[in-house]
Amino acid sequence: MIIIVKCREAWNVLKQYFGNFNLFRSIPSTIGAHEHQNQKISTIIFIILLILSFSILILYNSIVVVQKTMAIKHPSFAEYSQLFSKYSSALTCPCTKLSIKYENFLQMNFSLHQLCTSDFVTDQWMNFVAYIDIRIPLDGGDFRVTSRSAFPVLRAFCRLTNDTIFQNLIRFYAIDCVSGYVITSDLFQTEAQALINQFIASITKRSMLPLQIIRETTPANGLVSGPLSNYNFFQCKNSSYIFTTPNSYSNCSCSISAS
Ligand SMILES: *[C@@H]1O[C@H](CO)[C@@H](O)[C@H](O)[C@H]1NC(C)=O
Ligand SMILES: *[C@@H]1O[C@H](CO)[C@@H](O)[C@H](O)[C@H]1NC(C)=O
Ligand SMILES: *[C@@H]1O[C@H](CO)[C@@H](O)[C@H](O)[C@H]1NC(C)=O
Ligand SMILES: *[C@@H]1O[C@H](CO)[C@@H](O)[C@H](O)[C@H]1NC(C)=O
Repeated sequence: MIIIVKCREAWNVLKQYFGNFNLFRSIPSTIGAHEHQNQKISTIIFIILLILSFSILILYNSIVVVQKTMAIKHPSFAEYSQLFSKYSSALTCPCTKLSIKYENFLQMNFSLHQLCTSDFVTDQWMNFVAYIDIRIPLDGGDFRVTSRSAFPVLRAFCRLTNDTIFQNLIRFYAIDCVSGYVITSDLFQTEAQALINQFIASITKRSMLPLQIIRETTPANGLVSGPLSNYNFFQCKNSSYIFTTPNSYSNCSCSISAS
């Protein structure tokens, strides 16, 4: 009972205090009731506007993102990754080292066709097929005749391919990757894949170049192949000279076409 009475008393005191609350009280307070009323209204409006402006300020601060530039010196990769996941678009990270050789971050392994590691390119096999018993007459297309030149060509082709890839890889690894800023992981992956694809495409073209040259110069110079597949020798009955004559396959002469 006592508490309720005390509460009511306190309520009345508060009511009286706020009822007469006046921020614009004039001194001395010898003014009319009308002006007193005006001052009270002004106080209410002032307080409402004050609360309103504070609310707007708080709301604005909580909604609007303010960009602030921060510099972190020598971040570790873990720090960089963490920052990147938070501020991917705003993050820039200049490099102290502008160029890095490809060999530091790219590695390409290659394997040749299994024929190039088989017994067919070994010295033993070459020696074996090189032997021909001259007492046995053989046709020009016989395997024992063609194999003598076919397998060395196969071996040369394997070596040429291996050397071409090997040399070009060395050259490729020595190229510098230049970037002023750290690039994103996704972009880096894409770029690396593109570099590798480009390398493979260029190596394919480059390996074919020596073969094309051989193919063009052989008929142009009239070079005779080992198994006499493109030219044949003949001697006129009355002459001491030996002549060559081009072979033809399906009406296509070896003197005209390399294929
Ligand atoms: C590529 O070759 C290197 C050295 O020859 C080796 O250390 C590496 O494991 C190979 N990578 C693959 C994917 O075969
Ligand atoms: C390819 O060439 C490299 C270097 O010359 C050599 O080490 C390797 O054994 C060669 N591989 C083949 C299959 O010939
Ligand atoms: C072959 O040569 C001899 C002497 O050199 C000559 O008498 C003869 O007519 C020649 N025969 C032919 C077919 O050219
Ligand atoms: C080759 O040419 C001859 C005449 O020049 C012709 O009779 C023959 O049908 C041709 N053969 C082929 C396979 O083109």
